[in-house]
Amino acid sequence: MSGDPRAHAYRNVIITAATAGLAGLLFGYDTGVIAGALLQITPDFGLGSFESGLVVGAVPIGAVFGAWYASKFSDRQGRRKLILTSAVIFIVGAIASALSPDTLILVVSRVVIGCAIGVASAVAPVYISEIAPPDIRGRLVTFFQLAVTVGILVAYLVGLAFADANEGWRWMVGLGAVPAIALAIGIVRLPSSPRWLLMMGREQDAREALQRVRTEGPEAIELEIKEIESSMDTHEGTWKDLLKPGVKAALVVGIGLAILQQITGINTVIYYAPTIIQETGIDSDAASILASLGVGIVNVLMTVVALRLLDSRGRREMLFIGVSGISFSLFLLGLAFLIGADSALATIMAIFSLMLFVSSFAISLGPIFWLLNAEIYPLSVRSKAASAGTMTNWFFNFLVSLTFLPLIDLLSQTGAFWFYGVIGLVTLWFCWRFVPETKGRSLEQINDIFERRARG
Ligand code: BGC
Repeated sequence: MSGDPRAHAYRNVIITAATAGLAGLLFGYDTGVIAGALLQITPDFGLGSFESGLVVGAVPIGAVFGAWYASKFSDRQGRRKLILTSAVIFIVGAIASALSPDTLILVVSRVVIGCAIGVASAVAPVYISEIAPPDIRGRLVTFFQLAVTVGILVAYLVGLAFADANEGWRWMVGLGAVPAIALAIGIVRLPSSPRWLLMMGREQDAREALQRVRTEGPEAIELEIKEIESSMDTHEGTWKDLLKPGVKAALVVGIGLAILQQITGINTVIYYAPTIIQETGIDSDAASILASLGVGIVNVLMTVVALRLLDSRGRREMLFIGVSGISFSLFLLGLAFLIGADSALATIMAIFSLMLFVSSFAISLGPIFWLLNAEIYPLSVRSKAASAGTMTNWFFNFLVSLTFLPLIDLLSQTGAFWFYGVIGLVTLWFCWRFVPETKGRSLEQINDIFERRARG
């Protein structure tokens, strides 16, 4: 090792978080690639609308199972091993779906991909939060969300590149294996989570792991170990432990945000941005492709902004600003549809609202749900509780994608977006009422907030 050991440790923690964050690429890539791929799979396999729904829905349903699997094995095998497992499962699923001879094998391999994504999204943010120093934890866990957004954008570009190729969809889904291979290679070189090592009673290993990722000297590391140990339950928590008052108070926040992150409608925009633009009267493929790319690029750029602000402005302030923007933009989008098709004003308003909506999501609910879900639970039940939040998030992701088009039939576009806008207002109230500020606090200090809250 050469140079300043502190700079070395700082670099190490960034590299560790960025490598584990690659897990977000798997999730983002699949979210972004499927709409384009489906355009080709539908005629190739002669899919009806029910079968198309199965091909798309297989992933979120698989992810619910994957997150449940993570709840069982994240404590027994350790976070790092489980991330490696998810990368390997993803590679198998991506290759199998690229080679699928028929719909059944395609659906099954997409369930496998979903399982991998569920495991990765339940474990990677927890792993990062457990190795991160408190003052930059917000930024480091947000690497995961940044990778999600980059994955979506890269998938749009891959979709464009193979749009006219014969059986291009096989490339689109198969190329998902590439980031998974990078994740698998990267993750084996990282340290294990020090908190998990302490839970396993491996104090010396935990000390060594901390030394790799802390800029402070040995005394501070000993203090950190003491703090973790003193707040640690010695047994592995059970599902019943999630109902203990302090954990329940945290669970309200985690599960609440898991649901609200989805039911404010982000994935209606991610999946249907081109359709939304076309329905305001612009009948051009170029415009709708630009809409998708625009959404993808804005999502990445604003997540970078979030990365810089979450630890200085704090989670609550970012939630207030972002969720207000989400609600406002949804009401504006509804209004654009009320003004009606074939009006330039409506199109401009729709494009502006979409971009504002995505920007607002990217600085608030996008990263902050994954961050809080990884940092608010006590160590003994952290993997179970974080998995419960992840399962809920995927289930509602599935539900919103399934109900968006029927909701438009029922309420019209204006009604549907105003409905999501009202949910945005409820979200604002929820954040104000329930979400505590966690910036700069250690994971153990965060547990104290909820313990105190439970005692009233
Ligand atoms: C959400 C996804 C969404 C993505 C968009 C994530 O935080 O969980 O459902 O597609 O953000 O950036």
